[in-house]
Amino acid sequence: MGDSKGAHGLLDSNLTEHEPKANEAGKKRNLGLRLVALAILFACFLNALGSNVHSALSSSKLKLNDEDPVSDNILEEISACPQVEPTEPSAHKELFQELDDLIRTNDFRLHAYESLGGAVRVPTETQDEEKPPGEDPEQWKPFEELHEYLKTRFPLMHSNLTVAKANSYSLIFHWQGSDESLKPILLTSHQDVVPVEPETTSQWVRPPFSGYFDGEYIWGRGSCDDKSGLIASMTAVETLLSAGFQPERSIVLAIGIDEERGGTYGATAIRDYLLKVYGENSFSILVDEGNGYSERFGAVVSTPAVAEKGKLDVRMQVSTPGGHSSRPPKHTSIGMLSRLITELEAKPHPTNLRRNGTFYQKVQCLAEHSPSISPSLRKLVKTSLKDDKALSELEIELEKVFPEYEPSTGTTQAVDIIHGGVKSNALPEQVHAIVNHRIADYSSVSELEARFASIVSPLAKKFNLSIDAFGDDELSDSSKNSFGQLVLSDAFESALNPAPVTPTFGNGPWELLSGSILFTFATNQRSAKTDEKYFVAPGLALDTRYYWNLTKHIFRYSHLGASDSYNGAHTVNEAIRAEGLVELIRFFTVLILNSDKTDLLD
Ligand SMILES: *[C@@H]1O[C@H](CO)[C@@H](O)[C@H](O)[C@H]1NC(C)=O
Ligand SMILES: *[C@@H]1O[C@H](CO)[C@@H](O)[C@H](O)[C@H]1NC(C)=O
Ligand SMILES: *[C@@H]1O[C@H](CO)[C@@H](O)[C@H](O)[C@H]1NC(C)=O
Ligand SMILES: *[C@@H]1O[C@H](CO)[C@@H](O)[C@H](O)[C@H]1NC(C)=O
Repeated sequence: MGDSKGAHGLLDSNLTEHEPKANEAGKKRNLGLRLVALAILFACFLNALGSNVHSALSSSKLKLNDEDPVSDNILEEISACPQVEPTEPSAHKELFQELDDLIRTNDFRLHAYESLGGAVRVPTETQDEEKPPGEDPEQWKPFEELHEYLKTRFPLMHSNLTVAKANSYSLIFHWQGSDESLKPILLTSHQDVVPVEPETTSQWVRPPFSGYFDGEYIWGRGSCDDKSGLIASMTAVETLLSAGFQPERSIVLAIGIDEERGGTYGATAIRDYLLKVYGENSFSILVDEGNGYSERFGAVVSTPAVAEKGKLDVRMQVSTPGGHSSRPPKHTSIGMLSRLITELEAKPHPTNLRRNGTFYQKVQCLAEHSPSISPSLRKLVKTSLKDDKALSELEIELEKVFPEYEPSTGTTQAVDIIHGGVKSNALPEQVHAIVNHRIADYSSVSELEARFASIVSPLAKKFNLSIDAFGDDELSDSSKNSFGQLVLSDAFESALNPAPVTPTFGNGPWELLSGSILFTFATNQRSAKTDEKYFVAPGLALDTRYYWNLTKHIFRYSHLGASDSYNGAHTVNEAIRAEGLVELIRFFTVLILNSDKTDLLD
């Protein structure tokens, strides 16, 4: 795993009084929740709309008032964090039972573990500086090897599905469904792994490309990220093929080649291929690798990511006249740049817990469903829905409780590069710094640019610098008679708005995914059974930027527990708990079967 509209998705689309189409029990329970929400919503509307209540409620989509970005009814929905019931693949009940029994067998498991082990043994490392496929055959050879290997492990997929390649090594499998009017589901993963630093090899408990199964873990680079996703999704499909499953809805697997260096060769080629063959908005749901589940406050919470931060690298350049340093001005351009940097760091982005941000929703879900969250925190979370003072208090509280709080909620800034000066007796004429930003899901590139300019401009004016801020006349100050110039620009064409937020509560694809996750939990085959409570909450994460146009329903989710990884990804001793891999295979199986005959998807 490698990270415009902020919460618009949430705001536009979660207002339908949509009935979850899980099983009957689910309907009843959910209806209860919804009746409560509906009652409150009804009261709000009585106030707001007077006699128009009836017509407003009967329209399927309630329009929001622009001045009120988070209206009461949305707050109620967020606060209730409604859960669907575990969704059993009821249209394929017997088939599922048969597969579930098969997955329980030792033969099946050892075969699956070895599929992953074998994939790990092919060192498909990608470097940041990588020539594209076709220009450096030696470098890309492992990918050919991996393809040959996959043919031996997944023969039915190769003989019975259509296999296409994009940019030489990206793989796209298409399993044709019988009903062409249904939008296919799309499962994505990647073949590449981050390199193993040679000097760390000795720290590995098992060699980094061993793929060794020690009875508990499967070892090696890629075992967590993302060869487990690749092998688990392919194993689910291969097993369904072997059981004679014939889908109604088509299933597409797309497997990239350089996700760890940004996906510029793989994901872009896959996107172009999918847009050409299937068209825009042509998939019903996309599940990419991403967040998993972990235990928090006495319950296990899954957090499929529905939002993704944006990005901007700002280049801040100061130019002043050169000359001999024996007659210096009061501030050289280096001095000025330093002061500008100091000013920026003195004014970091406020964390700004916003009610329309995804992190806030996750916190609401925890307060609603976690049994052992402290009563005072639970109360504060709920009070903050309406009370701004409580919202500020909550912000402070969350910083203590969640180490990830700050990076995941707000916009972050980091001065990562500084460059200037060539000679000790010459005044520096042009110096620059690069400031990296990750933009909060509720903000935007333009909001960030305006804020950046407003912080550095007053000081720049004091230094008698003209200002060119992102080529934007309104933010700039181009006095002709100035001592020097400050230029702010996008350093590497890096600007990326936060991703459109995937619709959650009350939307079919979210409910289908949640129900499948909860069913996989409820029927899990782990040896250590507990009575744990499970729930699903919206999360924030990684990079699917190339796939935005393929569907509105993008989820970044890997059904793996935090404790299924021995030591995390991208580090020494990457290893996955074998039982975790089994659950991942079961999750894909449930998801595929649940997607097949459902009215939760288009
Ligand atoms: C989120 O809410 C804030 C105010 O709390 C508002 O300024 C912002 O535009 C909203 N964002 C979106 C994407 O609606
Ligand atoms: C594979 O395709 C062949 C030929 O179309 C068909 O006869 C066979 O049933 C298929 N096998 C599976 C497992 O779908
Ligand atoms: C700014 O610099 C220019 C060019 O050196 C100079 O003519 C001008 O007087 C300065 N303005 C101020 C306010 O110092
Ligand atoms: C999505 O498609 C639109 C129109 O085809 C295009 O302008 C836009 O850049 C695309 N967005 C992404 C993220 O690819």
